[in-house]
Amino acid sequence: MIKANPRLPKQVKLVEVGPRDGLQNEAMPIDTDVKVALINRLTDAGLSSIETGSFVSPKWVPQMATSSEVFAQIHRNPKVTYGALTPNLKGLQAAIDAEADEVAIFGAASQRFSQKNINCSIEESLERFHDVVIQARQHNLRVRGYVSCVLGCPYEGEIDPVQVAEVAKALFAMGCYEISLGDTIGVGTPHKVQEMLVAVNKHVPMDKLAVHFHDTYGQALANIYAALNMGVEVIDSSVAGLGGCPYAKGASGNVASEDVIYLLDGLGIDHGVNFDLLLKAGWYISDKLGRAPVSKVSNAMRAKNA
Ligand code: HMG
Ligand code: MG
Repeated sequence: MIKANPRLPKQVKLVEVGPRDGLQNEAMPIDTDVKVALINRLTDAGLSSIETGSFVSPKWVPQMATSSEVFAQIHRNPKVTYGALTPNLKGLQAAIDAEADEVAIFGAASQRFSQKNINCSIEESLERFHDVVIQARQHNLRVRGYVSCVLGCPYEGEIDPVQVAEVAKALFAMGCYEISLGDTIGVGTPHKVQEMLVAVNKHVPMDKLAVHFHDTYGQALANIYAALNMGVEVIDSSVAGLGGCPYAKGASGNVASEDVIYLLDGLGIDHGVNFDLLLKAGWYISDKLGRAPVSKVSNAMRAKNA
């Protein structure tokens, strides 16, 4: 057997964002029981980090309004990190009350996206996030930092990698333990990914970066491969390819976790996820939503097993 390319990492961590990034975009309310059952199945499948909900304004993202109940009802595995998005101190307090294991602040490399998504400029968001990080740390909560629109913005078009690097640098300096770089509308291609990573890596070590690629233009797996070759070891993905972004019209879901696992297996990279149980979790939620998974691997496996 051909050995894995020595430039690729030996092991990769998946951050499963389906229950948050995936479900936040569903227009019809989803029962808390279904959200809880999905997260329990993802836990059983061996995902070590599961973004479980979001403590944002229910007027902005109604689907996430039940996040406290979801946190209260899931069966927690102590080895798993159950995280939540917290845009401000109100969200942080809700996350603390819900006993989230970690929180995430979410900024953007685009001014207009920042305004649309969190109703403030990049500069104002960084000030707000600073207070969130300080208080989170007082509660021994780790904070993850997101940068959206790292490869393009639905309102501003092309985004300069230097601008991405500046926001990533600010979040890292603030105390975020990891910076997740979001191709929110999935427009990136591999060399642009690498160019952006080079710019960000001037300020943030590669082992503190994650990639968060939506698959709108079908480039996510190629972009992940490009990022792996640069030394990135953390990948955000969404079971069954759930999702989109409520503030990025036309954006499709994150790259499917099933597709990422298939890629990693093929490359000989460890990930710790039980593929069969992950497939079943994806089929569970897809059946509940009444549609096929947005994952080529999942659909191929279902057809093969039928
Ligand atoms: P705002 O309207 O400027 O907030 O929204 P405000 O402070 O003026 O408060 C207005 C009202 O919201 C008040 O209620 C607050 O109490 C309430 P009222 O007095 O009118 O009844 N409020 C809250 N309620 C619950 N939880 C809170 C909270 N904060 C205020 N935390 C705000 C500012 C940030 C709150 C709003 O813009 C918001 O919630 N935005 C969230 C948008 C969102 O969740 N987007 C999707 C996630 S980001 C994403 O998907 C991208 C990512 O995946 C990476 C990528 O793909 O690029 C991470
Ligand atoms: Mg996203």
